[in-house]
Amino acid sequence: MATTATTVPAHVPDALVWDADFDAFTAEGRDPWAAICRLHDGPPIRWCTNVAYGRSGWLLTRYDLISEAMIDYENFTAERHGMIADLVGENVRLNPIEIDPPAHHGYRRLLNPHFTPKALRELEEAVRRSASELVDKFAGQGGCEFISQFAIPYPSYVFLDLMNMPRAMLDQFIHWEDGIMRGADMAERVKAAREVYAYLKAHREKQLEQPGNPLLDAMVNGEVDGRQLTYLESMGMFYVLYVGGLDTVYSTLGWILRYLATHPDLQERLRADSELIGPAVEEFTRAFSVVVTHRNLARDTVFHGVQMKAGEEIHLPLMLADRDPSVFADPHRVDIDRKSRHIAFGTGTHNCLGIHLAKRELRIVIELFLQRFSNIRLREGEEYRYHTGRTFGIEYLPLAWD
Ligand code: HEM
Repeated sequence: MATTATTVPAHVPDALVWDADFDAFTAEGRDPWAAICRLHDGPPIRWCTNVAYGRSGWLLTRYDLISEAMIDYENFTAERHGMIADLVGENVRLNPIEIDPPAHHGYRRLLNPHFTPKALRELEEAVRRSASELVDKFAGQGGCEFISQFAIPYPSYVFLDLMNMPRAMLDQFIHWEDGIMRGADMAERVKAAREVYAYLKAHREKQLEQPGNPLLDAMVNGEVDGRQLTYLESMGMFYVLYVGGLDTVYSTLGWILRYLATHPDLQERLRADSELIGPAVEEFTRAFSVVVTHRNLARDTVFHGVQMKAGEEIHLPLMLADRDPSVFADPHRVDIDRKSRHIAFGTGTHNCLGIHLAKRELRIVIELFLQRFSNIRLREGEEYRYHTGRTFGIEYLPLAWD
């Protein structure tokens, strides 16, 4: 589908130019994974005239190339200024996702110890409780609209517990999230982002006065390079933990529940042997990798024979990596017995800080729904709705059960 006659830089070979709106292309048809994977049939490196928000840039379509770009932070930088600064009105950067090594390592050293499986063990009970509380609200109704009644509030609940914030803030946080992610216009998104930022700032100040929570202490009083974190470095961490686990978790959950609702045989298998839920989470996150991330060229470089110039964007759809037929046999098949080395949580220096938390959140939901409900299915006569873009997410998923 042709877009506008965007000027293509002179160094881009004609054969690599793809005059298309990437987001519209991925949204064609009923299955975004099938839609985007048509790109596997073309060149592994392309120049897309509208790769995101009307901007042009490079697009990689293969597992090996995408992994290589994520690992090679010297050529493909994640450094960005101003992405959220405009939104929240302070010169803050998402920390550590918008910062390259070596500075990046110092921030991760502060955060990592609080996101290991061992450190998260205590949070697990709270996560289970949040999931149960949400399910209790609709358990007797024979079904639910999974996204609004469960998938959206659930990660906010987990965030509140992780950050030692009052659970009574749940509705307020859902309201803010709605404004940021689905706000009708920019003004609404800015308003919600500023309100949440102000709340995070006040929570940080409270922590300065009453320390004691190990994760918050690290984010407020932690040291990098022998000095205390600055206010903006610290706020960048608060904000990244807020946004990092919201739409990623809800989107992945939506695809998982949709798959289970259309595969009663797999429901039965997982119910009969809950040990299989761990491997199922692995395979679900591969098959339903929801993130399209990007980098910028730090300098002029030749990447696999293609000349790229400093400052250009390079987009990395992780679903193309994780459904690459040259790495995963029969990639569109969900096979929980598959041993996979997928990159749904990224790879290299910026690999997901919340990976163990996320997997736990997903496992707990699958366990809970399978325990509480039998014959989970899509509500008859209704259609699910989804969006593509920077994350592939289901927006509406009507479920029924016996
Ligand atoms: C299914 C859920 C999740 C998925 C699929 C996911 C995916 C990802 C991916 C692909 C990246 C790397 C992005 C890049 O390199 O550009 C990433 C980074 C990150 N994620 Fe997650 N994520 C999930 C859940 C979470 C949760 C629950 C948290 C909250 C703690 C979180 C926090 C982060 C942070 C802080 C980073 C940046 C790490 C760094 O720059 O060093 N994520 N995630």
